[in-house]
Amino acid sequence: MARESFANRTTAILAMAGSAIGLGNIWRFPYMVGQNGGAAFILVYLLSAIFICVPIFISEAYIGKSTQLSTFGAFEKLAPGSAWKWVGLLTVITPIIILSFYSVVGGWSLAYLFKSLTLSFTDASATQEVHGAVFGALVGNKWAGIAWLTGFLVLNFGVVTLGVSKGIEKFTKITTPILFVLMVAIVFYSLSMPGAKAGVDYLVKPDFSKINGHVMLSAMGQAFFSLSLGVGTILTYASYMKKEENLVSTGVYTAVFDLMFALIAGFAIMPAVFAAGIEPGAGPGLIFETLPYIFSTMGRDFPALSAGVAILFFTAVLFAALTSSVSMLEAGVAYFVDHKKMARGKATALVFGFCWIFGSLCCVSTRLFDFCDRLTSDFLMTFGSLLYAVFVGWRLKKADVLQEIPRPIYFIVRWIIPLVIIAIFISNLVMKG
Ligand code: TRP
Repeated sequence: MARESFANRTTAILAMAGSAIGLGNIWRFPYMVGQNGGAAFILVYLLSAIFICVPIFISEAYIGKSTQLSTFGAFEKLAPGSAWKWVGLLTVITPIIILSFYSVVGGWSLAYLFKSLTLSFTDASATQEVHGAVFGALVGNKWAGIAWLTGFLVLNFGVVTLGVSKGIEKFTKITTPILFVLMVAIVFYSLSMPGAKAGVDYLVKPDFSKINGHVMLSAMGQAFFSLSLGVGTILTYASYMKKEENLVSTGVYTAVFDLMFALIAGFAIMPAVFAAGIEPGAGPGLIFETLPYIFSTMGRDFPALSAGVAILFFTAVLFAALTSSVSMLEAGVAYFVDHKKMARGKATALVFGFCWIFGSLCCVSTRLFDFCDRLTSDFLMTFGSLLYAVFVGWRLKKADVLQEIPRPIYFIVRWIIPLVIIAIFISNLVMKG
C-alpha cells in the first residue's frame, strides 16, 4: 500500500505548526519570560530559535523525510544494527511525561473556559487580588484540579479513539487564526492600560547581567519545547512529506509562525502584568491571573465584549492545546501499536492510564509538576535534539545530507549545535555543584 503523504507544503506546515503552537506559546513562554528576567531571556530565546532550533528542525525532519519512517524504523534503516534506534525510546517517554503535566494546564484552561461561560470574568471592579485568589483556589483544590485534568484527558482520548484528529485539525484551521486575531487585539488593549509602559520596557530593554547558564538553558529549553523538537514528532510528520518539498523553507515557516505566537502572547500578557501590579515571576499561574484581569477590565470599556472575548479566547486556547496534546498521545500509542503489537484501543488506554495517574500526582504536588516541566524541556528535549544533530552531522554520509541540507546549516549542525548544547549543560552542572 502506498504511504499517504501530505498533499502539499502548506498541509505539512499546518500540521507541524498545529503541534508546535499550543500552551507552550501562550502559557509557558510568558511565565518563563517573567521568571528569567524579561528581554535578556527573549533575546537568548530568539537566537536559540533561529540558529539552533531551525537547523535541528531541519535535521530531525531530514531523518523522517529521507526514510519515510517514524523514529525507531528510521534509525534502524539509516544505521542498521546500531544503538541509535534507542533514541526512539525518548519518543515514547518524553511525550508521555509532557502530556501528564500538560494535561494539568489543559485542565486549568478547561476550567477557565467554564468560568468564562458562567460569566466569572465580567466584574470590572474585581481587583488583581480577586483573580489571583480564584486561581489559588483552583490550584488549592486538588480534587477540582484532578477533575479538570480528567476532562482534558478524556477530550484527548475521545479525539484519538474516535479517529477525529483530522476533524480537529480542520477546526483548528479556524480557531488558530481566531486566537491570533484575539491575541493581537489583547496586545493593543493591554498596551492601553495605565502603567503598561513598564511591561513593554521589560520586554524590549535587555539587562545583560541577567544572562547566565541557567537562563540560557531555560531559553533554549523553551525554544525546543515550543517547536516540539527532539522527541520525534517533527521526524514523524516529516516522514509524510513528498520528496520534492523543501526542508529549509518548511522549518523556517514553522519556526516563524511559532515565534510569532509566543512573542504576541508575551506582549499581550506582560504590559497587563505591570499595569495590574502582578509579580512577573509568579510562575505557571501567570496567564491565569492576568488574562481574567484583562477580560474583566475590558468589561468597563466594552461591556458587551468582555464575556464574548473571554469565551472565544479560552475556546481557541483549548483547541490549540488539543492539537499539541493529541500529537503527544499519538506518539505514545504508535509505539505500543507498532513495536509491541498491541491493539490500538488497549495502547490508548495504557497511555491514558499512565497520564491520568502521573498527571494527578502533578496536580497534587507542585514540586513534581515543576520537576516534570523542567526535566522535559531543559533536559530530555534538549538532549534528544543533541542526538539528532550528532546523528545527522556525524553518522550520516555527508554527500547524502548535503543534497537536502545547505552547507552552512550542515556546518552548524555538525559543529556549533553539539558544542553549544554541551557547553550549556556543563555550565549548569557546574553551577549546581
Ligand atoms: N510544542 C507544544 C506547545 O508549544 C508542546 C509540545 C512539547 C509538544 N513537546 C511536544 C507537542 C511533543 C507534541 C509533541 O504547546
